[in-house]
Amino acid sequence: MTYNHSEQAIKANIYINQQQEKVKNSKYRLNYHMMPPVGWMNDPNGFVQYNGEYHLFYQHYPYAPKWGPMHWGHAKSRDLVNWEHLPVALAPSEYYDIGTMDDHGCFSGSAIEKDNELYLFYTGHSIERDPMQVQCIAKSEDGINFTKENQNPVIDHFPKDGSKDFRDPKVWQYDNQYYMVVGSKKDGKGKALFYQSSNLINWTYRGVVAESNGKQGDMWECPDLFPLEKEHVLILSPMYGEKNEKPIIIFGEMDYNTAKFSQERSILLDYGHDFYAPQTLIDEKGRRIMIGWMDMWFSKRPSEGDGWVGAMTIPRELTYNHNGIFIQQPIEELKALRHNHHHIENIVINGVHSFPKLDGIATELCIDFDIVNSDSPVFGLHLRCSTDRSEKTIIKVDTNNEEIIVDLTSAGKGESGIYKAPYSPKTNGKLNLRVFLDTTSIELFVNHGEQVITNRIYPHTSSIEVDLFAEKGKAKVLKADKWSLRSVWK
Ligand code: FRU
Repeated sequence: MTYNHSEQAIKANIYINQQQEKVKNSKYRLNYHMMPPVGWMNDPNGFVQYNGEYHLFYQHYPYAPKWGPMHWGHAKSRDLVNWEHLPVALAPSEYYDIGTMDDHGCFSGSAIEKDNELYLFYTGHSIERDPMQVQCIAKSEDGINFTKENQNPVIDHFPKDGSKDFRDPKVWQYDNQYYMVVGSKKDGKGKALFYQSSNLINWTYRGVVAESNGKQGDMWECPDLFPLEKEHVLILSPMYGEKNEKPIIIFGEMDYNTAKFSQERSILLDYGHDFYAPQTLIDEKGRRIMIGWMDMWFSKRPSEGDGWVGAMTIPRELTYNHNGIFIQQPIEELKALRHNHHHIENIVINGVHSFPKLDGIATELCIDFDIVNSDSPVFGLHLRCSTDRSEKTIIKVDTNNEEIIVDLTSAGKGESGIYKAPYSPKTNGKLNLRVFLDTTSIELFVNHGEQVITNRIYPHTSSIEVDLFAEKGKAKVLKADKWSLRSVWK
């Protein structure tokens, strides 16, 4: 196969091929999450199904485990679980995405297919240019080799309602037209700017489709607007000043004629520390699937010392449950990783009750608590415990406050902190916790995806014990299942 990458992409690929063996078996590598082969990863980009295969691109700096001039890393998968790394898709190379200072590159964006070609939409960024952020296209006929469009930048200036922070185009098709939202800010409010096109090359500005209600940040990064069953939703990653905050999902009505998305209600997508810049695709089965950067700006990142940083969450399917509540659930395909099943049922916990140790760290746990027949106000799990329990990651169910708490104060290296999500007490009296553990991550799904709490944790590899506990009373476990999860990388 011949590669028609810019010189910079070829250089990046040679470097990655030389360095990846060193990183491959380092201790913090994950087993079933997407990670960069080497170097730095942040936002998911260009998440799409193309010719039957899922493609995931990502913000990437191959040369060091820190943010730098942005490339687009690339991987593909048949099932969103087993990934194959591909050559870097985009590298800074043109006047609109390069600069003499390190602050430049191919910033976040999305992908869409048209006439069998795969189009990548990205923000060309250079801190030295005015305007510093413009919208660009790169195209491919094979899904591997991308050529930047001659007519770039296809949007060469921010509109009157925006400002120089003008980035992260998400493109979709609706009723035979193409639409784009771009994140921006003005007058202290985050904004989603809306464009329309019939050919993906010429774009007409239609206005501010949505903006912060005053409490949703002064800059919106990575907006994603799409239909979800009967309504439209807008996902975005807000900034408050220089600080990135937890992504939200806003539910509402979209009027394509007036170019307005009316906000009805909004919630946090994830209550953990390590979830940012999520992006969705719709696949051939009609599923809306979301993946997020499982890390966060300005965090402690112990894997730096091993030459790599950043990972993606497991993919989540977005739907509503039979009560009409929005839920996020791990995609079905992940069940193929399960082996070594343990099942227990009907046990009453009073104090600390040990649970079978993890056989290997990559584990899924699924537990149903009987809330009605439990009188302990605080019960839950200790995970990734050292033998002496000086190290542990705690999940607590606080029934008085109706909160699920992930306590990382003794979780090991990495970010500490206490992360809380509200839960609604079930009418059927049950509370379900489903936990995905990997070498350096914990993703907790509460009540079948009503809430999610995602964190990176860096305990010692020998910390593999598990306890169930109930404080000041009894807690009843109706059933608990545990599976080891296979590694997709070895
Ligand atoms: C979000 C973000 C985007 C930008 C990219 C740069 O994490 O700041 O707004 O395009 O990262 O890497």
